[in-house]
Amino acid sequence: MWRSIVFIPAAMILFSCTGNVGASFTAREKEQLLALGDSITMEAQNILLQNVSSAIQKGGTAYAVGFCNTQAMPLTHAVAAIHQVTIQRVTDKSRNPANALQTATDSLVWEQLKAEQEHRIVREKDGSIYYYKPIILAMPACMKCHGGKDDIQESTLKIITRRYPEDKATGYKPGDIRGMWKVKIKE
Ligand code: HEC
Repeated sequence: MWRSIVFIPAAMILFSCTGNVGASFTAREKEQLLALGDSITMEAQNILLQNVSSAIQKGGTAYAVGFCNTQAMPLTHAVAAIHQVTIQRVTDKSRNPANALQTATDSLVWEQLKAEQEHRIVREKDGSIYYYKPIILAMPACMKCHGGKDDIQESTLKIITRRYPEDKATGYKPGDIRGMWKVKIKE
C-alpha cells in the first residue's frame, strides 16, 4: 500500500520535466500522447516526402517548389482532418511566413529542441495539449531547396524568391534542425 502512495507523486515529478507549461502529465498519459504525436507526424511526413519526391521526379526541383507552395499545407491539413487534430510546421527561419513561431510556448520549446532534439508534449494554461517534434534536414535532397548557394540551382532559387519574397529558409547544412512539427492534440 505505501508503495503506491509513494510511487504516484514520485512518478509525477519524474515525468513532468519535459517542457510542460501548465499542469503535469502522469507517466502513462505522457507515453500515450507522445506515441500519438509520433504516429501522426510520421504519417504527415511520409505523405509530404512521397509527394515532393514524385514532384521532383516529374518536373525537377524548380517545379517541385511550386508543388510545395500549393500542396504542403493542404496535404498536412488532410492528415490533420483524419485524426481531428491541428498540424503545423513552425520554425524561426520560415519560408512561408505562416510557418513562423507563433506563441510564447513555441519559442520556449524551440530553444529546448535546439539543445535537445527530443519530442515532447506541453499542456498550455487553458488545458490544451500540444505535441512537438524536431524536423531535421536528414536527406541530401533537402539541400536542393534549403541549402547554401552551391546547393540550390539558379532556376530553383528564382522560383523560391518569386513565390516567397521574405524567404529565410536557405543556408542550412545537412543534419541541421529546420523546424518542428506542432500538433494540437487536445483543445
Ligand atoms: C523542391 C524544393 C524543396 C525541397 C526538396 C524541400 N523543401 Fe522544405 N520547403 C519548400 C517550400 C517551397 C516550403 C514552403 C511550403 C509552404 O509554402 O507551405 C518549404 C517548407 C518547409 C518547412 C516549413 C517551414 C517553412 O520554412 O515554411 C520545413 C520544416 C521544411 N520545408 C523542411 C524540409 C525538409 C526536412 C526537407 C527534406 C526532407 C525539405 N524541406 C525539402 C521547398 C522544399
